[in-house]
Amino acid sequence: MCGIVGYVGTRQATPLLVGGLRKLEYRGYDSAGVAVWNDGVTRVVRCRGKLANLEEKLLKEPAPGTTGIGHTRWATHGRPSDENAHPHRSGSITVVHNGIIENHLALRQELVAAGAKFTSETDTEIFAHLIDRAMTAGAADLTTAVRGVLARVHGAFAIVVLNEKDPTTMVAAKNSSPLVVGLGEGETFVASDVTAILAETRKVLFIEEGELVTVTAKGAVITDFEGRPRQREPKTITWSALQAEKGGFKHYMLKEIHEQPRSVADTLVGRIGAEQDDVSLDGVNLDVASIRRIIFVACGTSYHSSLVGEFLIESLARIPVEVDLASEFRYRDPIIGPGDLVVAISQSGETLDTMEAVREAKKKGAKILAISNVLESSIPRLADYAFYTHAGPEIGVASTKAFTTQLVALTLLAIHLGRRTKKLSSERARELLGELLQLPNKMRDVVESGAQLQAIARRYGHAEGFLFLGRGTQYPIALEGALKLKEISYIHAEGYAAGEMKHGPIALIDEDLPVVVLAPRGTHYEKVISNLAEVRARQGKVIAVATRGDSNIGNSADDVILIPDSAPELQPILTVLPLQLLSYYVADFKGTDIDQPRNLAKSVTVE
Ligand code: AGP
Repeated sequence: MCGIVGYVGTRQATPLLVGGLRKLEYRGYDSAGVAVWNDGVTRVVRCRGKLANLEEKLLKEPAPGTTGIGHTRWATHGRPSDENAHPHRSGSITVVHNGIIENHLALRQELVAAGAKFTSETDTEIFAHLIDRAMTAGAADLTTAVRGVLARVHGAFAIVVLNEKDPTTMVAAKNSSPLVVGLGEGETFVASDVTAILAETRKVLFIEEGELVTVTAKGAVITDFEGRPRQREPKTITWSALQAEKGGFKHYMLKEIHEQPRSVADTLVGRIGAEQDDVSLDGVNLDVASIRRIIFVACGTSYHSSLVGEFLIESLARIPVEVDLASEFRYRDPIIGPGDLVVAISQSGETLDTMEAVREAKKKGAKILAISNVLESSIPRLADYAFYTHAGPEIGVASTKAFTTQLVALTLLAIHLGRRTKKLSSERARELLGELLQLPNKMRDVVESGAQLQAIARRYGHAEGFLFLGRGTQYPIALEGALKLKEISYIHAEGYAAGEMKHGPIALIDEDLPVVVLAPRGTHYEKVISNLAEVRARQGKVIAVATRGDSNIGNSADDVILIPDSAPELQPILTVLPLQLLSYYVADFKGTDIDQPRNLAKSVTVE
């Protein structure tokens, strides 16, 4: 997730661009840059690191001019560096981009074969070369050139394009990534979202899917990608700047819960083979035949996703898997040998316990695969291989979209491994990948069910404790639901394997203890129903998460949250969503500091 801005008008562009990028840093902050037209020349100034570094560089290399574009980056393709920072340029064209181009490798190869000289590792540079070539080939204008290029690019993008030969006009386009146009007096703005322009104008055009915008100081003309005009009435934004940064949501956590369908879609982009029965791990070239055992090391929520990964890999690839808390692994003098692949999962890529566990495993000769959300963070840099989730920056301390994108990454890894150990058929892989592609819509369906969870949260918000129960792959989800509730509402909660109830926890059950039970359709369903009955027989209050169409569960539960059906391997990605929302609304009911809960940090870089 990156932040893009553009300005054309009569004022100096750079201060306006930088001011907009500062508001968009929450979307990404590993590098930043601007391109400003002045006196026939487009000057590009960019650098690695936070926006402050760019501001410092601009003091030494000023960029005067009244037309410009800018970008703050969250790297997905190409490590954070000066060269990979946007804007990217080819000939007279400069471009900034938020999104992921799915067919960038094929387009890059075609352009290199045609003599294009690339200066970065990014997918974005493709746009600059293609649009420059279209202009050189005689496109009538920039809008026509961009339209022709968009017909060839697949994936998610929001772009703004500047042409050195015509500084009066910028062209922007949207496909899946957000884009807005701000209308001023004799000046026009373009940005990823309204936070970047609210200080200058509250009159906004929201650009929709598949739309292309020709922007001048007089305003904006919108068409679809085929050139058909699109009418759009400006909206007047009443949000405060802070509300806007949260996309109108009350907290980052709620915004990020709702971002999950997009994050999952982004994590899938470019990784499912053309035959739809195999997975590419972005160049991670594991010697699968030599893998004797896989050991996951992680902390917190990432540990819970590792527990799901264990089920997935053992089921689909039949490779033995162990899961260890990183803080335990690093001190237990683990027996590691050749053929062990240690997989370190870390959203931040900076968790010290996980980093030290990786160091310990490396010392003992294991190969390391890092699964992280932050490109080039410490743990992926320590590892032999890195495979990234594309959740975008996760601001809320309680991890949500990082977790579900980790589950997607683990499913992709398990399919990749299973196809190579020959334990997963092409047909089954095709089914699973087809279901993965349907997940974003099913997730959207669930996260829109917040009203029901809000009502349940009010009913049980006074409770002094919660129990979460699940079997199989739902047991790690029970652990994750309990962690979410604990860390943001400060109510004690425990996640337990449902089959363990009779070995002790059942003594806790009474009318004051809400019990959340994960009971989706599947092999454990009947057993979970009997666990539900045990709870209700002791006056426990049951909140069940079940599969839509389950007409039986209502007889065994006080509240039922129904979610869409899916392949058993993918159910955890859906069942966790109501638990995220439940913990959020209980915490909101209690008025705790949801985005920055007491005693917690987003990345635990201490022991
Ligand atoms: C998740 O909600 C917690 N904030 C915490 O458990 C977190 O998952 C843990 O600290 C691991 O962080 P990492 O994924 O960045 O390594």
